[in-house]
Amino acid sequence: NKVVLAYSGGLDTSVIVPWLRENYDCEVVCFTADVGQGTKELEGLEEKAKASGACQLVVKDLKEEFVRDYIFPCLRAGAIYERKYLLGTSMARPVIAKAMVDVAREVGADAVSHGCTGKGNDQVRFELTFFALNPELNVVAPWREWDITGREDAIEYAKKHNVPVPVTKKSIYSRDRNLWHLSHEGDILEDPANEPKKDMYMMSVDPENAPDQPEYVEIGIVSGIPVSLNGKNLSPASLLLELNEIGGRHGVGRIDMVENRLVGMKSRGVYETPGGTILFNAVRELETLTLDRETIQVKDSLALKYAELVYAGRWFDPLRESMDAFMEKITESTTGSVTLKLYKGSVSVTGRTSPYSLYREDISSFESGNIYNQADAAGFIRLYGLPMRVRAMLEKGI
Ligand code: ARG
Ligand code: SIN
Repeated sequence: NKVVLAYSGGLDTSVIVPWLRENYDCEVVCFTADVGQGTKELEGLEEKAKASGACQLVVKDLKEEFVRDYIFPCLRAGAIYERKYLLGTSMARPVIAKAMVDVAREVGADAVSHGCTGKGNDQVRFELTFFALNPELNVVAPWREWDITGREDAIEYAKKHNVPVPVTKKSIYSRDRNLWHLSHEGDILEDPANEPKKDMYMMSVDPENAPDQPEYVEIGIVSGIPVSLNGKNLSPASLLLELNEIGGRHGVGRIDMVENRLVGMKSRGVYETPGGTILFNAVRELETLTLDRETIQVKDSLALKYAELVYAGRWFDPLRESMDAFMEKITESTTGSVTLKLYKGSVSVTGRTSPYSLYREDISSFESGNIYNQADAAGFIRLYGLPMRVRAMLEKGI
């Protein structure tokens, strides 16, 4: 037997390797996806995996695929969970899990394994993706089975099995980083009344320490998808990488929230999404030119459901895929550019233009014009207000 393990090189996944060999009598192929978590995380991984007892480490660079096929569709849809969360971790799980299914096929493995706890969302996201893409794979979730409870336990288990304990000091927070965001959970954040410590943040400066000069960015968008930054065409991943840098130095995109996990509990999380916050604002702003009132309303109402499906790990659900077809169609004309001003944590839109703009100065201007005839408004208001007049007549016995 062979199992493909989602591997990060941290203590937890390092311990899972000997645990799988001992309890399932299998070979372990470690798999690490590069979704932009940073090069330091990827250093020396192969030696580490082998030292833990893995027969092989497979690394795949999924950065462009992640941004192009997962992040940008969510952005185009305007997907946001519980009013605040831009779904950074939720979008990364299906792209990683899909790659694991591919690796399992390539190396002839019959099982897959992950290091998610039994209390969270991530286990659901991994496993629903496995189900959808290869229902024959067996899934092993050690955290739901073993009796290793804390860090000390894990270190002891590692020592007993001659697995070098990773030297990198484990942070007190549970973190997840990729090209879109960085999440922080745990430790003092577990009390929703506590303000996060200043030194917790990693992708953004404190807005109080951000430059006193604002910075403008211009985002070019084609059919709801960002294609350029300050007039320069960039690949999806490079655009995001550069925008994270810019947003981060102005303290943009910090979110502190209490959310409802799929498994029923509430959880407090803090997210840094600098580039994503700018892009989200840009796309939404461009739609104010290109979509009419009812279209925006319908799109926004579907975006809620779309976000819920992504959060719940149902990426490969035909429902989400069909909604994506709707989003693609409805944003066909969402093309143009948006200029935003970044200043001490805030993002404000200062300008928007589109060749498909439905805004017409010759109609909207206070300075006359002859397409719109003000006299038409009188009849419109009389008919639009007819139900109100009828009700008032009834109440007054007219
Ligand atoms: N609460 C967020 C979510 O469910 C972030 C989860 C972070 N995951 C992690 N393994 N640290 O999407
Ligand atoms: C975990 O429990 O593995 C991380 C948090 C989550 O999945 O929501």
